[in-house]
Amino acid sequence: MDFFESEIFTYKNNELYCEDVPVTEIAEKIGTPVYIYGKIFFEDRYREFTDAFKEVKHTIFYASKSNFNLSVIKTFTDLGSGVDVNSEGELYRALKVGVNPKKIILTGVGKSANEIKLGLELDLLMIKAESEEEIYLINEIAASLGKVARVAIRVNPDVNAQTHPYISTGLAENKFGIDTEAAYTLYKKQNELKNIKFTGIDMHIGSQITKIEPFVEATTKLADLFLKLKAEGINLEHFDMGGGIGVRYENEKTFSVKKLAEAIMPILKKLDCEIFFEPGRYLTANGGILAAKVLYTKKNHDKNFIVTDTAMTDLLRPSIYRAYHHVQPVKLEIGRNNIIADIVGPVCESGDFLAKDREILSSNPGELLAVFSAGAYGMTMASNYNARRRAPEVLVSGNSFKVIRSRETFEHLLFDEKIE
Ligand code: LLP
Repeated sequence: MDFFESEIFTYKNNELYCEDVPVTEIAEKIGTPVYIYGKIFFEDRYREFTDAFKEVKHTIFYASKSNFNLSVIKTFTDLGSGVDVNSEGELYRALKVGVNPKKIILTGVGKSANEIKLGLELDLLMIKAESEEEIYLINEIAASLGKVARVAIRVNPDVNAQTHPYISTGLAENKFGIDTEAAYTLYKKQNELKNIKFTGIDMHIGSQITKIEPFVEATTKLADLFLKLKAEGINLEHFDMGGGIGVRYENEKTFSVKKLAEAIMPILKKLDCEIFFEPGRYLTANGGILAAKVLYTKKNHDKNFIVTDTAMTDLLRPSIYRAYHHVQPVKLEIGRNNIIADIVGPVCESGDFLAKDREILSSNPGELLAVFSAGAYGMTMASNYNARRRAPEVLVSGNSFKVIRSRETFEHLLFDEKIE
């Protein structure tokens, strides 16, 4: 049986390490379940990304929804990244890290008036508008504040990203963005919208995209609109490509950012403006694992179950997308049998599983398992269902580690609750 290793999660003497720290050491000190991230992975991926596009003026706005721990955001912003925020909560986090509002862009298909107001008061670099009504609302709020809002229209280019339907966002049937024709009409209203300055054009066609073609198709469509507007005197400063680049969870054939850059660079160069990117998963997914302990192993009607102390409340992706994550023992006990088992958690839902019918080395209660590729959309989608406390997060750097978020306490769960 082959064992999955990533750039920073590797086996040394049959024991899993994050960089130079044994996962067992972290689990013993901090307990399980625990999220473990490798800082160098995040840094390397960021550098790889920015390097791939060095021929064009560009800025990366890290999509903080993939992993919004303050230390993770800071890892990227220390390298020069901006931040893409999808809510007041994510904005709050970015500001806590000390990110300059001029390096923050505000996304969201349903921003509240309050979020728009906050974005304007803070002078965020750009607000992305997703409907005609929102554009009028931004104009109105900006007028009441005596400001001119910098706005990009999120265009829905109607391109099939060929990904899971729940995370496809650039099809005509999806709720996101404004279709190309309608976007064109709105840009042409620039003169009427006294408190809006259209500074950019934006798209985000989906997530976990493993083929280059949808990006080429969407970039071509967006570039056509950009150039048409330019020809008609509407000069936009920013061309925002969104995020969406897929990573390897199982054995997907992915592409590198370098390959993407090669494919779209000719289009980008024609635009002669600054390019924005909003990667999330590409920068974080394979930089993290979720370590858990086996509580029980059981057989039910001939089916094997490994019951762990982690659950859908920690990592929701398998439950809602049937997403694949490698699950492997932290210590490889050579000579053990492989079994086929469902790896499940303690939550009272049949949908609470990390893996279904998975071939795995048999394990015993008390032993540790690692759930791989958990650095993106893991902790950020965690919940308190069944009154479970959310897991701590640990950041490894070289041979040391720091707890960057402690395990929640029961007091956290009761925050401001009243018995009337
Ligand atoms: N920009 C916008 C406007 C987005 O909506 C997203 C993700 C990104 C950037 C970053 O996309 P990425 O590079 O990470 O693919 N929970 C799902 C993923 C949802 C993605 C939502 N939007 C999952 O676990 O697969």
